[in-house]
Amino acid sequence: MRVIVHLSDLHFGRVDAALLEPLRARVRGLAPHVVVVSGDLTQRARAAQFREARRFLDTLPKPQVVVPGNHDVPLYNVYQRFFQPLRKYRRYVNDNLEPDYFDDEIAVVGINTARSLTFKDGRINEKQVGNVRAKLCKLPDHMAKIIVTHHPFDLPPDQQHHDLVGRAAMAMKTFAECGADIVLSGHLHSSHTSHSAERYKIPGHSALIVQAGTATSTRSRGETNSFNALHVTPEEVRVERYSWEPANSDFVLSGDEAFRHTADGWHRQKPGSEPFFRGAEKGL
Ligand SMILES: [Fe+2]
Ligand SMILES: [Fe+2]
Repeated sequence: MRVIVHLSDLHFGRVDAALLEPLRARVRGLAPHVVVVSGDLTQRARAAQFREARRFLDTLPKPQVVVPGNHDVPLYNVYQRFFQPLRKYRRYVNDNLEPDYFDDEIAVVGINTARSLTFKDGRINEKQVGNVRAKLCKLPDHMAKIIVTHHPFDLPPDQQHHDLVGRAAMAMKTFAECGADIVLSGHLHSSHTSHSAERYKIPGHSALIVQAGTATSTRSRGETNSFNALHVTPEEVRVERYSWEPANSDFVLSGDEAFRHTADGWHRQKPGSEPFFRGAEKGL
């Protein structure tokens, strides 16, 4: 069993500083095998904001798989936006825009969907999909294959279609060929879990699509700050959501969904069904 903490949309420059220490403590308590951050580490891609993000990442468990978001590309500095769009991200966060993590149970592959030519939309291209193919297709079936992007592959019911990552259908076709199990994204500042089969309808494939809310931004779009923890085995994935409770000054467990692997992908188990396992690290 593997534990993955999934944070997103930190937005240093617009963070609620009161959340940082409780978040750090809760993440450490979960003892994750890997920490994922699905983009928007800063609010305006300023050096001081990246330095703050760097300091925060340094206090979280490692290894980490971090990808950029649209807010990590400078908006107003036109030269940097078009000619050095992720220079500061590369300096302070990671020179590798598409990091990955592999062990004998899971593979986690990051993809950079941030682009200079659009204000907030994201995109994935054929070269990036080819990289995913090279990294994931050769792995054995029992390994959980997990993809990380900032821009989403599915949307909560009230969201607009243009928020989907560009060329999503092309990418999902390859993800299906390689047996991708889970896609982790952010950007919407809204938590959501769904099945790729509902939108993409690829026979024999249904990946779990997990959106994290914003962990620390004050711009939470009506949803309280939150993050996800995934407990992953070859047979079952449990997605826990931890949400900020001001009265307790802490992130507390607010959602717990289980998904069981079948011949044609991942399917939600009924609420209240007997869990396949329990994360021993929870200690809540
Ligand atoms: Fe964001
Ligand atoms: Fe974003």
